[in-house]
Amino acid sequence: MPITWHEPTRQLHLHNGRLSLVLAVLENDWLGQLHVGAPLDPQATYRHLGPAEFLGFTNRVDEPVGLAVPTAGSGDFRIPALVVEQPDGSAVLDMAYAGHRIVTGKPDLEGLPSTYVEDPSEAATVEIDLADPVAGLEVTLVVTIFEDRPVIARSMRLRNAGTGRLIVRTAMSASVDLPDGPWDLLGFSGAWGRERHPHRAALLPGRRAVGSLRGATGHEHDPSLFLLRPETDETRGEGFALSLVYSGNFLAEADVGSRSTTRIRMGIHPDGFAWTLEPGATFTTPEAVLAWSGDGIGALSAALHAFYRERLARGVWRDRLRPILLNSWEGVYFDFDHARLLDMARASADLGVELFVLDDGWFGERDHDRTSLGDWVVDRRKLPDGLAPLAADVEALGMSFGLWIEPEMVSVQSRLFAEHPEWAIGIPGRERTESRHQLVMDLSRPEVVDHLEVAIGDVLSSAAISYVKWDMNRNITEPFGASLPADRHGEFFHRYMLGTYELWRRLTTRFPDVLFESCASGGGRFDPGMLAFAPQAWTSDDTDAIERLSIQWGASHVYPLSSIGAHVSAVPNHQVGRVTPLATRAAVAFFGVFGYELDPRTLGDTERAEIRGHIAFYREHREIFQRGRFIRLRSPLGGDDAAWMVVAEDRMTAIVAHYRILRRPVAPPDRLRLRDLDPGTVYRVSAWPGPTPAASVRRGGDLLMAVGLGLVPEDPATGVPDGDFAARLYVLSAD
Ligand code: GLA
Repeated sequence: MPITWHEPTRQLHLHNGRLSLVLAVLENDWLGQLHVGAPLDPQATYRHLGPAEFLGFTNRVDEPVGLAVPTAGSGDFRIPALVVEQPDGSAVLDMAYAGHRIVTGKPDLEGLPSTYVEDPSEAATVEIDLADPVAGLEVTLVVTIFEDRPVIARSMRLRNAGTGRLIVRTAMSASVDLPDGPWDLLGFSGAWGRERHPHRAALLPGRRAVGSLRGATGHEHDPSLFLLRPETDETRGEGFALSLVYSGNFLAEADVGSRSTTRIRMGIHPDGFAWTLEPGATFTTPEAVLAWSGDGIGALSAALHAFYRERLARGVWRDRLRPILLNSWEGVYFDFDHARLLDMARASADLGVELFVLDDGWFGERDHDRTSLGDWVVDRRKLPDGLAPLAADVEALGMSFGLWIEPEMVSVQSRLFAEHPEWAIGIPGRERTESRHQLVMDLSRPEVVDHLEVAIGDVLSSAAISYVKWDMNRNITEPFGASLPADRHGEFFHRYMLGTYELWRRLTTRFPDVLFESCASGGGRFDPGMLAFAPQAWTSDDTDAIERLSIQWGASHVYPLSSIGAHVSAVPNHQVGRVTPLATRAAVAFFGVFGYELDPRTLGDTERAEIRGHIAFYREHREIFQRGRFIRLRSPLGGDDAAWMVVAEDRMTAIVAHYRILRRPVAPPDRLRLRDLDPGTVYRVSAWPGPTPAASVRRGGDLLMAVGLGLVPEDPATGVPDGDFAARLYVLSAD
């Protein structure tokens, strides 16, 4: 059992040879955190890592004691993980150890997405009970350690064990105390169209936070943070990754204290949050995941990729190779009918596309974005016979059929809004702020979830729909749950998320064979919470190959390639107007769940032939693109070029990509050092697009890693130097 309890020192040690978490009950019965990070000997005791004797902070203000569930108001002036207001108005807590249970496996989190095990032997969980009889509060800290992964998962369950009403003001999923500095903080931030750009900076005394108050995780910040030693890079050095399995308002914050100790907390954003616990009631926080590595950022990413792909994503599509899709959006937007779509589908099938996706515009009278969300009935003007014959026509072409929906929204101009204005979020007597002419449905109301389950369920069962793109295109304003009592609106945002998860749960359970992709104006709700329901996400509305380098580079820190939707679109690019070669657009989109986002009827013969080749190439290597180990080599941010690679699990095959962002004159000879190959294997290296394999070279894995791969400085076929925005892949296979 990888969790051991040492009674004499009251020490709990979670260990698996990959990382250790050592907790201990301190002299005043608080739960201390003695160590987190590098694996330690499970036989030893570590009480000396904590304070010699700890009786509370009273006489030792600012003593840097590591605590597992820090509270406010009793001498620890750092950021608290738990703040609960009591009937007398006070919020001071004294959470004393009351017992613990060690169990094999991992219990599910009620109503919330979470990581899981398939067999109890994969993990062990400790549930540690803490109690404050004065407040009438019981807390159970739930920590799971997984076999052979450098990862733990953590959440908290609160229970009102008293007789008065409690109000939970802060309940963090994770709180981690790091005993020494300095640390750098690496986060993933941006905006619509440039999501998840990495930002790294040294932590300074005081607080640094990212978060969201939008009702969704948002485009601005990913709910994940990496803490890195200043010297840590992709391959070396110590670091932690913390990531929240949640899709709503969140806070991820670091606080460096006067003794250079750092506390990290992560969970539901406390701003505007207040959850009432009546006597006997419970509240469960979302889950946070923590990974540790001594081998650099790449190893943290590898741990998260494997964990999220294998034990967060669920359902039959978790392990299936994903189809190559063509999405109608950038090709025709709202302007289509059955005949036009069928022409597009024919042209798609001819290219080798496997899944034809009809995006926005098929329902109500949706000729533009000002109308019809909520009216989930087929627009008979465009599709007189409905979706079923269209899906059948698409299937007859040898492809499967997919559909776009945006269940959480309602257009002001819609039948649904006319009938049920009270189902849209808003405060009676106050104007509702519109965004993209739409309002958000109040999913905190069970009847709204019930309605949407039926409305969307009817659509999904009306035709052979094998893929769904579930979009969500605006954030919440005027937050207010019309069905909540006046003193419980602080629960609204979280109740919205619980309702949304419930809808996802019902629809994914009812349609287990459907492949779901989540979307929120691109990557506005791309987070581990959504990944638990939809194994892939539309990474960004920005489909420009050069912009995508940075977006996908950033996303790859946390998310596996099997979750990163990436499409080739037309040029000039619709978001930034840039013109890039077709091969470059493909070479970027290959590193994700590959597809197209254009009108295939507009392509010339040369482009069609080229695309057929691209699709054949992706198919041939799909397994490694979707399941291989992804390795970042050269960052696109700020440089003139970028590079990354994927390696098969057995290291016998790898695909390396090098992207020339800007060509400079008199470029020095360039060698790209590869990683994670087998040093003893000789690989055949062939360039793509490029000469036939006959012209490939043989190179040893040792050489490719130690000296590097000589980059082809010019187009090998024509001898012309590659210009701006050129890309070249190198396929390595054991000879
Ligand atoms: C969002 C999505 C796009 C597309 C449109 C349709 O912006 O991110 O991919 O589906 O909505 O309105």
